[in-house]
Amino acid sequence: MTVTLAQPPARSPAVATSEWGPEPMEKFVIEGGVPLSGTVVPAGNKNAALPLLAATLLTREPCVIHHVPDLSDIHYMLQILSHLGAQVERASGTVQIKAENIKTTAPYELVRKMRASVCILGPLLGREKEATVSLPGGCVIGDRPIDLHLRGFEALGAAVRIHAGDVKLFASRLVGNRVNLSGKFGSTVLGTDNVLMAAVLAEGTTVIDGAAEEPEVVDLANFLIKMGAKIEGAGTHRIVVEGVAELHGAEHSVIPDRIEAGTFLAAAALAGDDVQITRLDPSHLVAVTDALNSAGHHLEIGESSIRVKSNGAGRPIEIRTEPYPGFPTDMQAQMCALLATTDGLSTVTENVFPQRFMHISEMKRMGAQAHLEGATVIIRGVDQLSAAPVMASDLRASAALVLAGLLAEGVTEISRFYHIDRGYESIDDKLNNLGAQIERTKA
Ligand code: EPU
Repeated sequence: MTVTLAQPPARSPAVATSEWGPEPMEKFVIEGGVPLSGTVVPAGNKNAALPLLAATLLTREPCVIHHVPDLSDIHYMLQILSHLGAQVERASGTVQIKAENIKTTAPYELVRKMRASVCILGPLLGREKEATVSLPGGCVIGDRPIDLHLRGFEALGAAVRIHAGDVKLFASRLVGNRVNLSGKFGSTVLGTDNVLMAAVLAEGTTVIDGAAEEPEVVDLANFLIKMGAKIEGAGTHRIVVEGVAELHGAEHSVIPDRIEAGTFLAAAALAGDDVQITRLDPSHLVAVTDALNSAGHHLEIGESSIRVKSNGAGRPIEIRTEPYPGFPTDMQAQMCALLATTDGLSTVTENVFPQRFMHISEMKRMGAQAHLEGATVIIRGVDQLSAAPVMASDLRASAALVLAGLLAEGVTEISRFYHIDRGYESIDDKLNNLGAQIERTKA
């Protein structure tokens, strides 16, 4: 089986586990206080691209995916697909995959690098009626169980066994059923993707209630429909799938990354003079733009762009994260950075991952005034943050520290920066093009 993964990603992770050998840890050095202006373009959506790539396992025929972002998480997914036997070719943002003959076992060494690798379970079960994938562990943002995914697979007739750290799924046949994917914290995005990808090749009708409504689920459903699947209701809390005997190859472009776009919106609100973010879908960002409007920021919302012009000090706000279309948990940390310098008392409540506040203690080292009460952080805006050495703990926390560093007085050094390369394509180059002064150096 030919595998062409000629190029490591431009920003391969700075950890010793890379297949290109050990690499030194990198840090970001940010000189704060430079106002941002100009235009920035977000990449393809990471959280849409990962399940789309996994979905190519559902057919023996070639698939072509465009606008795939150049991120370490994407590279891990391509490595997993190659391991499973798929031919993978990547040229710039286009990935071609042909999964003619595949294995159904993905080992811990590959899967442990990225929690989202769990979304190969659905397509493997759908196509091969079996899968053995290492059980993902928790991470700094929370416990991250997959009980709802497994509930969905069982409803379709799969036997589920956890053994020696692996999830093993097996079914003699998959039969459509009703399944409810609502959990204690709302629905599950990757769980909905997984059950959807298994159900498209099940016999009969599957009704997924409590489905995640995120745009990333809609993008996956659109790709599956191009492959020949029969799906209705994606983007609502009820998805109905009429199983088909087989799927064929298809070509698709990944939607723009709404969280990367939202991160630039927050950067512009916090440190911008006049910043335009293009190639985005403003309808995916309503909760974020509403929050920025409430916080007193002036946004000009176009068809596929948003412009943020500085209009002086903002106002404090209350934010509660919710599943889509509510305010995204993946924007919570970045908003905390903005509110840290917004005069008055703001509150941010995390309803999706109640422990996702690792960025707060780092921001406090930069002079933020914030304290946690359960899953709520109460932030009293200060006039000025001061630069400090800080440590990135996860993807969005890293983005928040970059935003804080843009505004802080002095030079902020952010270590463990490989986290940001998991989900932001060349964030340093993109912000530097807006006038920021960020340098990537060896730690
Ligand atoms: N949950 C369960 N049981 C399950 C699955 C989830 O209790 O079986 C809980 C989770 O613990 C959490 C909530 O349900 O409290 C929502 O989790 P969800 O399953 O929706 O998260 P996910 O699908 O694993 C995706 C994104 C995350 C994003 C969340 C929520 C990908 C690859 N990841 O994760 O993105 O925060 O949805 O929107 O799509 C990020 O990009 O930084 C990131 C963490």
